[in-house]
Amino acid sequence: MTSGTKAKIEMSAGHALRCIECGEELERAAAEFRCPRCGDLLEVVYPAWAESEAQTLVWASDLKATWRERRVSFQSQDASGVWRFRELLPRVAEGVISLREGNTPVFELPGSARSAGVGRLLAKHQGMNPTGSFKDTGMTVAISVARQEGFSWVACASTGNTSASMAAYAAQGGLRSLVLIPAGKIAWGKLSQALDYGALTCQLDTDFDGCLRILTELVRRHPIYLLNSINPYRLEGQKTAAIELLEQLDWQVPEHIIVPGGNLGNCSALGKGLEELRRLDLIARLPKLSVIQAEGANALVRTLREGGGKRLVAVQAETAATAIRIGNPVSWKKAVRVLEATGGRCEQVSEAEIAVAKAEIGRDGVGCEPASAVTLAGLKKLVRQGFVQPQEQVVLILTGHLLKDPEYTLKFHRRELLPDAAEGERRSLDTYRRAPLEVEAKVEAVLRVLEQAEKSHGAK
Ligand code: F0G
Repeated sequence: MTSGTKAKIEMSAGHALRCIECGEELERAAAEFRCPRCGDLLEVVYPAWAESEAQTLVWASDLKATWRERRVSFQSQDASGVWRFRELLPRVAEGVISLREGNTPVFELPGSARSAGVGRLLAKHQGMNPTGSFKDTGMTVAISVARQEGFSWVACASTGNTSASMAAYAAQGGLRSLVLIPAGKIAWGKLSQALDYGALTCQLDTDFDGCLRILTELVRRHPIYLLNSINPYRLEGQKTAAIELLEQLDWQVPEHIIVPGGNLGNCSALGKGLEELRRLDLIARLPKLSVIQAEGANALVRTLREGGGKRLVAVQAETAATAIRIGNPVSWKKAVRVLEATGGRCEQVSEAEIAVAKAEIGRDGVGCEPASAVTLAGLKKLVRQGFVQPQEQVVLILTGHLLKDPEYTLKFHRRELLPDAAEGERRSLDTYRRAPLEVEAKVEAVLRVLEQAEKSHGAK
């Protein structure tokens, strides 16, 4: 690469914050990350890109080569699957707080592909991040900005993953962290992570939406940095999953990307990443980005169907997929715009459909947490609707690790999950259920079990 092009690329990192509604530009956001003029959401923009637009073709090939070269570097920012793409991120002069996030694998899901009725199905597993979810990719950016801005406390409301991620990055960066979680509604694995990473953890007698309301008020009264996905720096980090995915696909754009929707930050982030790749001519077209929700937490589905995408229809959320048990999603407007820009769809799936899909992803040897499995359940619907064609390339974004919620998995296999499922649903659930067997501690006894299993396998 010539030194001339390098200078151009580095120049691109100067950023501003801009209101998505009224276009107001700011250098620094207020504590609750809303536009001071109209109260809407902010996004990170890079004014220098516009000035250098004529150069984007030169850039594109240079950037792809630079990013690839960094994969073999031992320098800590290069080893991060987020900061490897730093030309498209805000510059953090103080140094970044990183746990080598990103660099997550793309897996084949052959069994799930058959079940969904598509020829080939890929999954980018964001649960393979250091704390077990996609949140790490956003947290590394936002928490680095928090330290640069001089904060000593950071905070979030969480259904589990955000709290574990924030607590880990705060600990790594020498910051203190406050976590607000809905009492009894987060998976034990996640709570234990937050505790071990040293977070001040408060279980509140409310749901996620209630925790977020309290936190928004708290940050107005106390100097504490808000790390929920209303923070646009979180989304900047999360958008790199889209960049990394395209790189892993050798820049061949898939037809569909499918992602779960809760607070709707992640689909907004991935959409922003894709649109920026397109704008910089790093890809020739956009994939369709579709968002799937649980039926009991379907605010975006209803916002589109009943509100025409113009006003939020909030819901009282209920689903065993606790990560997406969110009724009043902050980033709904960004999500609607991403669906419109990419031509994706928004669908909802039932609790039984989620449980079956999760088990199917498990049977591919990959596994994920319940919220992530909505993607496969949603894909099946989109195929039935004819929106996804069998020969099209589809990538599911698996957002969290199987081990986040072993209680859900054990309940499923012990037939304790969805005891009231209808007959048809129960039959599909039973196909995948494997409760542990109580067996006498003798070789003969285990042999008998094995023979039995071989017989019933042969009978299928
Ligand atoms: N999948 C997982 C595993 C999640 O943890 C979340 C959100 C989502 C999907 C939805 O992403 O909110 O950006 O639409 N988890 C939150 C938390 C809210 O607190 O960990 P979204």
